[in-house]
Amino acid sequence: MKTSRMSVKELLQSEDCGKEVEVKGWVRTKRGNKQVNFIALNDGSTINNIQVVVDMEKVAEEVMKKVTTGAAVHVEGLLVESTGSGQAREIQAKEVIVTGEADPEKYPIQPKKHSLEFLREVAHLRFRTNIFGAVFRIRHAMAFAIHQYFNDHGFYYLHTPLITASDCEGAGEMFRVTTLDPKNPPLLEDGSVDFRQDFFGKSTNLTVSGQLEGELGAMSLGKIYTFGPTFRAENSNTTRHLSEFWMIEPEVAFNDLEDNMDLAEDFLKYLIRYALEHCMDDLLFLSKRLQEEEKDKKAEERSMELIEKLQFVLNHDFERVTYTEAIDILKNSKQNKNGKFQYPVTGWGVDLQSEHERYLVEKHFKKPVILTGYPKEIKAFYMKQNPDGKTVAAMDVLFPQIGEIIGGSQREEDYNKLVTRMQEVGIPVSAMSWYLDTRRFGSAEHSGFGLGFERLLLFVTGMGNIRDVIPFPRTPKNAEF
Ligand code: 4AD
Ligand code: MG
Repeated sequence: MKTSRMSVKELLQSEDCGKEVEVKGWVRTKRGNKQVNFIALNDGSTINNIQVVVDMEKVAEEVMKKVTTGAAVHVEGLLVESTGSGQAREIQAKEVIVTGEADPEKYPIQPKKHSLEFLREVAHLRFRTNIFGAVFRIRHAMAFAIHQYFNDHGFYYLHTPLITASDCEGAGEMFRVTTLDPKNPPLLEDGSVDFRQDFFGKSTNLTVSGQLEGELGAMSLGKIYTFGPTFRAENSNTTRHLSEFWMIEPEVAFNDLEDNMDLAEDFLKYLIRYALEHCMDDLLFLSKRLQEEEKDKKAEERSMELIEKLQFVLNHDFERVTYTEAIDILKNSKQNKNGKFQYPVTGWGVDLQSEHERYLVEKHFKKPVILTGYPKEIKAFYMKQNPDGKTVAAMDVLFPQIGEIIGGSQREEDYNKLVTRMQEVGIPVSAMSWYLDTRRFGSAEHSGFGLGFERLLLFVTGMGNIRDVIPFPRTPKNAEF
């Protein structure tokens, strides 16, 4: 009878010691001597390797020569309780077949410490390192948990379009989608491009957010969420910006700003709790790695240990503060007075930079912060206008290490106020009449927010660069792979 193949994860937890087993995976390391070799084998199912013990009298030397780091092998043997490998189980090999060699002279991933920068250049192979195995298993777990949370809470998953003719955030940072000949586009009399002749009969772009369509769904289905890629052509070369990133956008009819904040806090805490409950092996590995990296730093410069940091967020209510209060705190801070901010806080009305957000979270409140009531000038057109005439019902959730992790708001449900605001900021009202219909027919208060998936992953994994939590990052001047 053919033995059935098991994953390394299953084998390490198996109670079937003494049984014949079969496993396939990639060699992480091989060591040993003339009598016995030890292969550390990994198949991606877990951060842990299974040790394969090879009696060199039983397996041809020719075969074992090809067992090098990165090679794909197929092992059959006896599952036994391990005595020395630091794992509960190991395999005594009866047969080892190398199905794919990896020439050690050429294979870039060798068993030594590679820099994250180098691994980014070989992103097609970096999955095979412990660190990226851990990151992408956690990425999967978080995506799964997001769907779980919303499903459990009565939300419907709505697929909003990636190609759109509108600019949700109104920032004009969009990638054009066109089939026109770039060298010879059809022109109008005034010399501008005639997009009526383009594929969709109008000028179209990749979406920066699914919110506007999400609102349409929420105004009938009640509670919806989107979870898809979004695209921003902003020339931000930072450790927290991608040109293509994934965003989760819940939208709830009849929710006001306070409900929205409660949802955001509950949702984030659920996801962090889920990571602690389901990804501990990977988190422990990442935590150890971070501590290793920081061991030469002074105690006060070291960041909080990863798992402690996740628990810390779970155990604290997020501080809810208005923009106006935050500006006061920032303006009067030592940091500001001593000129330590790259962007000095001069007064009410300025947009907050990530250094300000992190000051509020890490130095002042020492816990996650939800900022509300931003000046309307620095926020998008759709946000509900507050009675003061100056501010809007916006909410940004600020996290340690990250700064803004969520941006959201209560939406303006009043047709006239919304149209006036659109005209003020130059949004074509007639082209958006489909959006305005929700305010024309059965308008109701509603709220939502966008969580940057990769920003969440930065926080949960403790990774320092957003390029390292998405498989193939797209950033200015980079669309490799
Ligand atoms: O604050 P933003 O721009 O909000 C919106 O797009 C709204 N339409 C959301 C809504 O209310 N439905 O973006 C939301 C979040 C940010 O808080 C940040 O976490 C992430 O998306 N984000 C980015 N992540 C990576 N790279 C970028 N360039 C990002 N821009 C925004
Ligand atoms: Mg924002």
